[in-house]
Amino acid sequence: MRIDKFLSNQGIASRKESKSFLKAGRVSVNGIPVLKGDIKIDPQVDRIEIDGALQNYQEHIYLMLNKPKGVVSATDDTRHTTVLDLVPKELFRQGMFPAGRLDKDTTGFVLLTEDGEFAHNILSPRHHVPKTYHAVIDQPIAELEIKQLENGIVLKDGTQCMKAKFTVIFPGETPTLEVIIQEGRYHQIKRMFGAVGKKVLELKRIKIGGLALDPNLPEGQCREISVEELERITNCNRY
Ligand code: URA
Repeated sequence: MRIDKFLSNQGIASRKESKSFLKAGRVSVNGIPVLKGDIKIDPQVDRIEIDGALQNYQEHIYLMLNKPKGVVSATDDTRHTTVLDLVPKELFRQGMFPAGRLDKDTTGFVLLTEDGEFAHNILSPRHHVPKTYHAVIDQPIAELEIKQLENGIVLKDGTQCMKAKFTVIFPGETPTLEVIIQEGRYHQIKRMFGAVGKKVLELKRIKIGGLALDPNLPEGQCREISVEELERITNCNRY
């Protein structure tokens, strides 16, 4: 890998900035200052120091974003703020995208990464990684309707849904339910409730696999997911 690519991959300096960064003698490889961007390095083997500080190579980055309403789960949009617009420069990586989309009016946990394989593994229904939501609906729901939703409901367009889990956590005129699904079709939860005549008023994703949205992460902010947390996403109870 070229040293300038390493610097931009690790979020240290953009490809453009790296030239002056290197020229200033701030980067050394195995103790030798490197001044040119096209020098080849092996990040797994070579000792890279920036301003004398040893760099730990991380092939991919994984972020937890607490998405607010009004933000779109796209990488590019001329009219709306995107989830990527909320990523601070030091955490941004080339090729980053949301691993699973939330609707514009849905809030909560969005995982951002540039690791396509990991994203595929958590998104593919075949891997059954559960996604947990809190949904507020417009009217009370009957036990029988919950059973229908849990057993795999057929949507109005004929789509057969997989089994899911629905639990009323706050009963009342506009109850809140915890919903766990293992697939992520367009407007999935809204359409599932729609199939039993209910409207979703509020929707928030609170968990991906076994990793819950950090309660200390304010809306609109993101933070890195640790290696241990990453394991919790895939090593979780499936049903
Ligand atoms: N289901 C929906 O209907 N919307 C979302 O944003 C996520 C799941």
